[in-house]
Amino acid sequence: MITDTIKKICCIGAGYVGGPTMAVIAQKCPDIEVTVVDINARRIEAWNDDDLNKLPIYEPGLKEVVAEARGRNLFFSTDIEKGIREAEMIFISVNTPTKTYGKGKGMAADLVYVERCARQIAEVAKEDKIIVEKSTLPVRTAQAIKSILDDAGNGVRYQILSNPEFLSEGTAINDLHNADRVLIGGDGSTVEGQAAMDALTKIYERWMPREKILQTNVWSSELSKLIANAFLAQRVSSINAVSALCEKTGANVEEVAKAVGADKRIGDKFLKASPGFGGSCFKKDILNLVYICRSLNLDEVADYWEQVIMINDYQKHRFTDKIISTMYDTVTDKKITFFGWAFKKDTNDTRESAAIYVADKLLEDKANIHVYDPKVSETQIFKDIFDLDTRPHEETKKALKVSKNPYEAADKAHAIAILTEWDEFKTYDWQRIYENMQKPAFLFDGRNIVDARELKDTGFKVYQIGK
Ligand code: NAD
Ligand code: UDX
Repeated sequence: MITDTIKKICCIGAGYVGGPTMAVIAQKCPDIEVTVVDINARRIEAWNDDDLNKLPIYEPGLKEVVAEARGRNLFFSTDIEKGIREAEMIFISVNTPTKTYGKGKGMAADLVYVERCARQIAEVAKEDKIIVEKSTLPVRTAQAIKSILDDAGNGVRYQILSNPEFLSEGTAINDLHNADRVLIGGDGSTVEGQAAMDALTKIYERWMPREKILQTNVWSSELSKLIANAFLAQRVSSINAVSALCEKTGANVEEVAKAVGADKRIGDKFLKASPGFGGSCFKKDILNLVYICRSLNLDEVADYWEQVIMINDYQKHRFTDKIISTMYDTVTDKKITFFGWAFKKDTNDTRESAAIYVADKLLEDKANIHVYDPKVSETQIFKDIFDLDTRPHEETKKALKVSKNPYEAADKAHAIAILTEWDEFKTYDWQRIYENMQKPAFLFDGRNIVDARELKDTGFKVYQIGK
């Protein structure tokens, strides 16, 4: 029997979405027991660490929420079967990366992890359950999940809901507390389907105004998530395309963004020029959208969205080319310091960060790179470059260094490139940095965060995006 009063939730996947999302549900619903399970024992161990600074994810406000709920009604465990067996509602929050093999390689979402979850649920479950797709999935995935579950043949009945997550990393806790909307897709044409949607609605209603909780059919919900990310990424690519035009014409991209964004119909968000968007979602979800459109013979629609990715790649190359051409067309044996490696500020996540691609290109041109990032570990930075598989590891180890101190990282550098907009970069003693650099001292501000006029007065040769 599917009940509308949920007492036990299990979430499969303790990552950037599963961890914070479940922590907030547990915080807001102290009477619901929330267990987050994962196959990655190290990750679970880190979630359970007494030292809250060792949580696997850095996210402002997260450790306070975990401190409040963990051990009370929030649990992290590797016992996936127990989690599944005991829960009335199961969230699937596993990764859905771009396929790296076979059909749809480089484009389609790899659903292997999602399918494994569905099969494990089918194997273990003894009582009726509500299954919630939290992962971002191609439209109509719910059908596949339902078919796997229904064919288990053990009489257990399932309701499949789509409840995509819209949080942004770096602001996840605030986004979860004050979401613009919560989307719940389900089968409203049946009593059981509606009951399942209402059960999930009731959970979010604990802290979200009812009018912000949207109930739709499953396919609209699945598709809305892909489209929301495509629209956001499209804005970044639009402003980045404009930044190239600004540099050729003497216009200033920040002034243009302000003037254009002042129009209420356009709005001022997501108009910051950058060295290209990164993160685990935008590229993957647009590639998936393009793949779906092509599979449905909608080539014109696919081409339209594909341009968003093409402009993003162009922007990453453009930033790198600017560094090389400004430094007299050679960076061989020159020390270039990277301030920032994460794909945006306030996160330790580096997936698809522009920094990785800019570094790789500069290494190709035989530059020496020293990285400083306040939250990303040395191991992660090397892993990101090794994963590209562009050169022998030994070669990378000679040319790439990571420092825990920004002044040390910039010591005797020929240039500094700002790749992430960490606030602390604005408050550095830039005079001191300048004095210890090689001259001319170049500064490539990929995020337009420093005061260019002041730094030019200090002596820096400053390049900013779109100016
Ligand atoms: P992640 O890689 O951080 O976490 C996924 C976790 O799932 C991993 O810890 C992995 O070990 C675990 N996992 C995989 N298969 C499993 C299985 N069979 N059983 C148990 N655990 C398993 O990924 P993420 O960033 O949290 O993203 C998860 C989903 O949410 C993706 O579909 C993503 O597109 C979507 N999403 C992500 C964000 C974001 O900001 N990261 C935002 C919205 C939506
Ligand atoms: C994104 C969506 O915003 C979120 O709703 C969804 O759930 C997951 O994907 P996220 O990738 O965490 O979130 O961060 P976001 O703030 O969207 O930034 C993505 C990338 O775009 C970052 O590299 C960021 O630096 C870049 N960006 C963003 C810009 O370059 N300019 C902008 O104006 C905004």
